[in-house]
Amino acid sequence: MMKSIKNKKTISESTILVTGGTGYIGSHTVVALIAAGFNPVIVDNLSNSKASVLDRIKKITGKRPPFYKLDMRNRAALNKVFQKHQIASVIHFAGLKAVGESVAEPLRYYENNIQSTITLCNVMAKHGVKKIIFSSSASVYGQASGIPIREDSAPAPTNPYARSKWIIEQILQDVYIADPGWRMVLLRYFNPVGAHESGQMGEDPRGIPNNLMPYISQVAVGRRNKINVFGNDYPTSDGTGVRDYIHVMDLAEGHIAALKKMEKKTLWKSKQNPIIINLGTGRGYTVMEIIQAFSKASGKKIPYRITKRRPGDIAACYADITLAGKLLGWKAKRSLLDMCADAWRWQSRNPQGYP
Ligand code: NAD
Ligand code: UD1
Repeated sequence: MMKSIKNKKTISESTILVTGGTGYIGSHTVVALIAAGFNPVIVDNLSNSKASVLDRIKKITGKRPPFYKLDMRNRAALNKVFQKHQIASVIHFAGLKAVGESVAEPLRYYENNIQSTITLCNVMAKHGVKKIIFSSSASVYGQASGIPIREDSAPAPTNPYARSKWIIEQILQDVYIADPGWRMVLLRYFNPVGAHESGQMGEDPRGIPNNLMPYISQVAVGRRNKINVFGNDYPTSDGTGVRDYIHVMDLAEGHIAALKKMEKKTLWKSKQNPIIINLGTGRGYTVMEIIQAFSKASGKKIPYRITKRRPGDIAACYADITLAGKLLGWKAKRSLLDMCADAWRWQSRNPQGYP
């Protein structure tokens, strides 16, 4: 709620800084924030997204949030945003996320992801803003010892991208130890897929998609000939890999639940801080099940061929979602068919992605 206007600053309890807010998950979360009555302010360097997503946010919500094109490592530029807006909390999505690229360019990944977070925390502390939600990843678990994966499963990241997330989690933990005034929620996402139900916003990867769902979408829309299924000799129901796919709007709403928990002092009773929570659906699907569901949702044939396993892949990975339900009162609502239908609506209406 807006309280007053003073010194050109927007004084509002509900102003949320969204770093990486023009990206895939960030943009969907911005829509969910506006729907929930928050005022998002976006910063992004557009290294992996386009400013035209802001037009789509306006189309869906009727609002165009303030946007600043800046690199998170630019402390002076970030400081100006905090001077201009009275930020209540930060949702920190900004980061590089391609596993293969991180193996080839580890220093770029460590520098970008870790330095961005350090600069952000410094600027936040300077302005007395001490509430942060951080985008971590199920990849910090690596080859977990048991499934479903619980948050107390020992982290064992297997590549620089995942390691950068794990290092950031530990840095945030140290920041909290030094100053328990911080409130931190570290969300470990499983496999976000799908798109906003309007078909206006979705995932728009650059180049050849690394991940299954965007690749299948591009096959369905005719941009690619067939999907390679990486191995059918895993110990799973049909031999193909199992993952916990979660609709991006469910994921976005998980952030709203976390934000509300952080904002309400009465709800913030956790002794464990930072709080680490899995965001997934708690159930896994095989690659073949995803291909079939997408084919059904799109009415298109999805040609595929079985190839060898992708190095580094694991057989099965899905979340234990008990903690998310208990601490956030949140649960994913959308089905696999919703994920495919919404991804298809986006892809078929925007075959080449954002303009
Ligand atoms: P994305 O690439 O679509 O969005 C990230 C955004 O951050 C991009 O818009 C990019 O331009 C921006 N960015 C990167 N470095 C920046 C910097 N130094 N300064 C300013 N902006 C910068 O990715 P996404 O899928 O929306 O993921 C968001 C977050 O969630 C990332 O931190 C990612 O690691 C994490 N995550 C994603 C997945 C997934 O499968 N999509 C899974 C687990 C965790
Ligand atoms: C990938 C990332 C992981 C990240 C996660 C969520 C790798 C090695 N890991 O994992 O760090 O947290 O995405 O976004 O990139 N598959 C095919 N053909 C394809 C693509 C994928 O058969 O063209 C299979 C894979 O073998 C896997 C499943 O589909 O069994 C899902 O793959 P993907 O979407 O890449 O996600 P993850 O493997 O979970």
